Amino acid sequence: MLKIGLLGCGRIGQVHGRTISRLDNARVTAVSDALPEAAGSVAALSGAAVMESDALINSPDVEAVVIGTPTDTHYDLIHAAAGAGKAILCEKPVDMSADRIRDCIRVVETAGVPFMTAFNRRFDPGFADLQARLAQGEIGEPELVTILSRDPAPPPIGYIKSSGGIFRDMMIHDFDMARFLLGEEPVSVFAVGSALVDPEIGAAGDVDTAAVTLTTAAGRICQISNSRRAVYGYDQRIEVHGSHGMLRAANIRENNVEVATGAGFRSAPTKHFFLERYEAAYAAEMVAFIDAVASGSAVSPGIHDGLRAQVLADAATRSWEEGVPVSLT
Ligand SMILES: NC(=O)c1ccc[n+]([C@@H]2O[C@H](COP(=O)([O-])OP(=O)(O)OC[C@H]3O[C@@H](n4cnc5c(N)ncnc54)[C@H](O)[C@@H]3O)[C@@H](O)[C@H]2O)c1
Repeated sequence: MLKIGLLGCGRIGQVHGRTISRLDNARVTAVSDALPEAAGSVAALSGAAVMESDALINSPDVEAVVIGTPTDTHYDLIHAAAGAGKAILCEKPVDMSADRIRDCIRVVETAGVPFMTAFNRRFDPGFADLQARLAQGEIGEPELVTILSRDPAPPPIGYIKSSGGIFRDMMIHDFDMARFLLGEEPVSVFAVGSALVDPEIGAAGDVDTAAVTLTTAAGRICQISNSRRAVYGYDQRIEVHGSHGMLRAANIRENNVEVATGAGFRSAPTKHFFLERYEAAYAAEMVAFIDAVASGSAVSPGIHDGLRAQVLADAATRSWEEGVPVSLT
């Protein structure tokens, strides 16, 4: 029974707390949140103790921590948890700065603790199956990867202003997915972006509509398309074109009923947003973390995956700002 301390009981912390409460081989023994009511609601699920974050990290009743606090707090919590010898599952992004992630890598590797970066989309059943078939060679060598990722509506402008920009905040998941599928590291990044959804997003120095082309040393190409608005709902699709065929993962809808009339075909909307769409992925991610820590096997995706995605996000931001491709070699 792995004893877990949950740091942060907001949107994502509650998801993780609920997942662990359903598992037989792990238990949330302690929770921490700056808001007592948030901590209390997650503690009630498992009878966990409510503690300050320092006490939680150093508690003998905590073997692993799940960091679901705001991104700017991850750095200090990672340092403290690694120093206390605890296994770590940290929400993405690890940090907004690649250099600070390198600092975290140093303390995590010095301490020798397991570390998972929470790129949950790798655990989505459809995307995981697509990647496994690709890795088994079912469509030969990947040549073109297309990742479509569009939110139903933009977040509040206050969030946009502190988000680090669309490439670091939203496309970070797609950069990780690109690496997961391409089978080799991108060597070049070219980004374009516009504020077409909300001029206020443009005035805040960000974009809401963006496209990025990644190229690998072998010439494989990945195109990522992001929008902060899709009037038809959360749009999450992947296609990989290979030398012997094509793999495609479609959207997941609220149900699979289709109605046909003289006016054409209609089906249910896509699952509303990430909490609903990736519910199974968050659960599978937690199971993978707990199983790896319990068995002493390698944890994946690790902290270097967190760094690589951040480096791609930084390069895309620079490419968009300067209007030229950025080389990563
Ligand atoms: N993997 C995903 O799909 C996904 C989805 C959403 C958010 N996230 C990431 O998860 C993190 C949290 O995002 P969220 O949307 O859940 O935020 P949130 O604001 O809903 O929750 C964060 C919680 O942390 C608490 N908190 C703040 N500082 C704290 C501290 N020092 N110690 C303990 N608790 C503290 C806040 O009171 C709040 O309840 C961010 O890094 C975000 O990027 C990942």
